[in-house]
Amino acid sequence: MNEKLTQIKTQFTQQISQVSDLAVLEQLEIKYLGRKAGELTNVLRGLKDLSEAERREIGGQANELKKEIEQKINEVRQSLKGQAVGNEFLDITLPGVQTAEGHLHLMTQAISEIAEIFERIGFVRRRYPEVEWDWYAFEALNMPPNHPARDEWETFFIDKTPVGPKGQRILTPHTSSGQVREMERKKLPIRMINISTCYRRQIDASHAPMFHQFEGLLIDKDISIADLKGTLDYFAKQFFGPDRQARIRPFHFQFTEPSFEVDVTCGVCKGAGCKLCKSGWVEIGGAGMVHPNVLKAGGLDPKKYSGFAFGWGVERCYLMKAGLSIPDIRMLYQNDLRFLKQF
Ligand code: PHE
Repeated sequence: MNEKLTQIKTQFTQQISQVSDLAVLEQLEIKYLGRKAGELTNVLRGLKDLSEAERREIGGQANELKKEIEQKINEVRQSLKGQAVGNEFLDITLPGVQTAEGHLHLMTQAISEIAEIFERIGFVRRRYPEVEWDWYAFEALNMPPNHPARDEWETFFIDKTPVGPKGQRILTPHTSSGQVREMERKKLPIRMINISTCYRRQIDASHAPMFHQFEGLLIDKDISIADLKGTLDYFAKQFFGPDRQARIRPFHFQFTEPSFEVDVTCGVCKGAGCKLCKSGWVEIGGAGMVHPNVLKAGGLDPKKYSGFAFGWGVERCYLMKAGLSIPDIRMLYQNDLRFLKQF
């Protein structure tokens, strides 16, 4: 073997026998095989200056030695790694590392529960845009531009002025914007339950600027207030419990006639009257018989069709159901796990 190679081999054999940890081994690898100035690398690089015959001979030997060195280094590396594990204290009786397990947000739970209750009586779950045209949220609902009733829906506007025949874009302040959209599908009878995110410029302990509503809409021939009342009672019993009842009180909305506010018997006193509810009833939201102008806006003939609608807040209903005394509705959306984990 070439003298230089023999020398490298002897030196390497001697040094590798003394290696006792991985860091030293690494250095040794660089010393011999390093791409920049490894001892063996230098020999291989020098081959080009030799005669053809020498190149073949020495080249062959150098490659042979390179393989040997690589192999030896790998062997030692494996055994050092094995030792490292062997030295660690491994207690196989310790419990494993538990992966954190999440669960659905309580509003997601509430939404699926509400959807399911209505699906059982033939309502189909829908969702309509959160970024909505003024037309669907107001105009088609019998509230022309500048109508004072619009003030109720503290609206976020995206456009300052109308940008098309349907007016400005807004963040929908209520799920009633889905009523005319649903009528436009022209599939009658309609039994929709539209559950979506809504937005209003209101923020305090009982209002979050982003919240959820669920909107029921039923349109068919000969629909009356009795059908509405029956549906509300059904929901009250299914969602709040068999001992609860719903009642309707006269109210005003531009898009329903007549209009009502819906109350449910208080969960604490069951209707007897207590400190919390005073009268025995707590209000849960609006409802009414769809206004003829709304049917017309949706392309339906009010002489042929009638229907009812109701729209309530998911957050509000859920908090009432669970009898949870959550002091601030905004806690639902602060992503504090200490709070969310409780549900
Ligand atoms: N959209 C109304 C609100 O946000 C509620 C409502 C829905 C009233 C349907 C009547 C009929 O207050």
